[in-house]
Amino acid sequence: MSSQQLTSDIFYVGARDWDRRLFDELIPLPDGTTYNAYLIKGSEKIALLDTVDPAKEQVLFSNLEKLNLPRIDYVISHHAEQDHSGAIPAVLKKYPMANIVTNPKCRMFLSEHLLIPDEKFIVIKDRETLSLGNKTLQFIFTPWVHWPETMSTFFIEDGILFSCDFFGSHLSTSEVFSADSAKVYSSAKRYFAEIMMPFRPIVRQNLEKVKSLDVKMIAPSHGPVHRDPNFIISAYEDWTSDRVKNEVVIPYVSMHGSTETMVNYFVDLLTERGVTVLPFNLSKTDIGELAMALVDAATVVIGSPTVILGAHPVVAHAVFLTNFLRPKTRYISIIGSYGWGGKMIEQLSGMIGNLTAEILPPVIAKGYPKDADFQALVGLADRILEKHQHLS
Ligand code: FEO
Repeated sequence: MSSQQLTSDIFYVGARDWDRRLFDELIPLPDGTTYNAYLIKGSEKIALLDTVDPAKEQVLFSNLEKLNLPRIDYVISHHAEQDHSGAIPAVLKKYPMANIVTNPKCRMFLSEHLLIPDEKFIVIKDRETLSLGNKTLQFIFTPWVHWPETMSTFFIEDGILFSCDFFGSHLSTSEVFSADSAKVYSSAKRYFAEIMMPFRPIVRQNLEKVKSLDVKMIAPSHGPVHRDPNFIISAYEDWTSDRVKNEVVIPYVSMHGSTETMVNYFVDLLTERGVTVLPFNLSKTDIGELAMALVDAATVVIGSPTVILGAHPVVAHAVFLTNFLRPKTRYISIIGSYGWGGKMIEQLSGMIGNLTAEILPPVIAKGYPKDADFQALVGLADRILEKHQHLS
């Protein structure tokens, strides 16, 4: 069996994108990514599970050609986002016998985005099965992992879950299976933070669906395949839970040193109190690292100088992202400085409507922080410690 096979009849035919450094023109990809596609040879039918980003179409075709396929009967489309569906039109051209198997919502998206004709679709229902002869595929609807139409396929006889973005990671490796579990954990957590965290309650429901199946292997559409499904399922149980950790995330920017002085002083205060602190200087930070830190932290303290009348725009961007990622943050506060006035507190408080966090009293210094400001930071650190002592 080749290193690019999952089993004797399942072949990895996807593409590695080692050099890609940005996804959706937003998400940093320090380790590139992969667009995983799998080819299953049944005794009667041949199915291709997802395709690849159009930029890597030739890699998919080269992998398929090596298998000397007489035809492809089914293209299972789990998700209409183009990193998985973008090569479908080219596949249909090259393998004209193929039909697309997908759910009603995904069919609609594929029609709208890729202009695929209606007669090419076989539309399936949740839990419906499709026989390949000696093997059976069962479709499990797992909405919002990442888009509302996203689904998974369970390969019943072998217990393999093809989970699409669910359980994935932007991590390019030459091996199909995960080898470095610490690296995979970290990349999968980053992926969860960036893609899944806004939908945490429904991701948790989907996790329960997956746990009800006899899953022996999980093959996502990005990053390595998990030979041990419990590894990634238990990580997702932790990330999707309501539990928070004794951690404070401090995304901040400082222009002339006042806010940085406050942040450094505050970091020391929290550290002395046994609180784990994760400061992110936003002018240097990879926002994926910030997103990851938001998965667990009980508290976020935003640090910003006042620019004209509001927060520094780089801070406003980070707060906007935090609000749309909907982390399970329990407490939030603001520290920073101003020159002649402004409405930074009102502005930032008005940007976090998606969060259910309690706002702790901000500490804003006029110019460089003075004794009273440092004392106020002591008060805020004590308040956070008290709150964290009662985390459940
Ligand atoms: Fe990997 Fe949501 O596409």
